Amino acid sequence: MKVLLLGATGNLGIRLIPALLSHNHSVVAFVRSSSKLTSLLPSALLSQIVVVEGDAKSSGSIKKTILEKDCDAVVNTAGLAALMPWQTSELPRIFEAVIQATKEAGMERKKALRVWFLGGMGLLDMPGTRSVITHYLPIYREHLQNFALLNSISTEIIRWSILCPSLMTPRSSTFELPMQAPTESLIMSATVPPHWKDVWARRIPLLGPFIVLGLNVGQYTTNLEDNAEVIASDLEKGGDEWVGKKVGVWDASREKH
Ligand SMILES: NC(=O)c1ccc[n+]([C@@H]2O[C@H](COP(=O)([O-])OP(=O)(O)OC[C@H]3O[C@@H](n4cnc5c(N)ncnc54)[C@H](OP(=O)(O)O)[C@@H]3O)[C@@H](O)[C@H]2O)c1
Repeated sequence: MKVLLLGATGNLGIRLIPALLSHNHSVVAFVRSSSKLTSLLPSALLSQIVVVEGDAKSSGSIKKTILEKDCDAVVNTAGLAALMPWQTSELPRIFEAVIQATKEAGMERKKALRVWFLGGMGLLDMPGTRSVITHYLPIYREHLQNFALLNSISTEIIRWSILCPSLMTPRSSTFELPMQAPTESLIMSATVPPHWKDVWARRIPLLGPFIVLGLNVGQYTTNLEDNAEVIASDLEKGGDEWVGKKVGVWDASREKH
């Protein structure tokens, strides 16, 4: 596929470049600063992609790039959800712009685009926790607002999925081809986190849901590279399996430790 990658200078975006190339995709990287990308990416990788400068809050620029570069799919890693209540985030505006652009580009081309978005683990239904917990954390409120907008769009208009990882950490700080052999260690599931442990503590009044969350969430840290791999490999397979779904990931290699 020809993939428009938004946020290619970010932690996940930069790792998606070798992952997408390794899965035989063409990459159009949409960044605020091409010089920043040049400083981060080895020239051997840079020479294999097309770079476009633009603002991900501009639906017009995104749509123009999709149409001019003839992209079939979009991966949006641009923007970062605000962790603290006093922080501001451009992510909701970026979400709106990407939705608008992919909707309009798909309608103009009479073919819905395949689009992966990024959310957070709090979007998933976590058994044993009351949804109010996640609703009170600002980072999840923002993800919930973005998801509500996305979920209102028919998958006939945008063939969307939203990846909902917990903390993602780097396995490596170098980006090269061929990418390290894919581990395929991430287990994916729709709606509910894979491998969720429902513990007795959920029955403790008031504190129970917090204990269940505390015991579980730390187990969901994954590698940035593995998350890049699941998106790139899904797109290579045609990208149908997770359409219209919020997708949780869990690192199966944890079982071996
Ligand atoms: N990292 C985690 O542990 C984690 C966990 C769960 C979910 N997520 C979600 O996953 C996504 C990616 O995370 P990340 O860690 O890769 O984030 P990141 O490193 O902060 O990268 C964000 C990217 O967005 C770009 N960006 C921001 N505003 C933009 C704009 N207006 N126009 C164009 N590009 C813009 C940044 O470009 P510049 O380089 O120009 O600033 C950067 O490339 C985020 O939505 C985050 O909320 C992350």
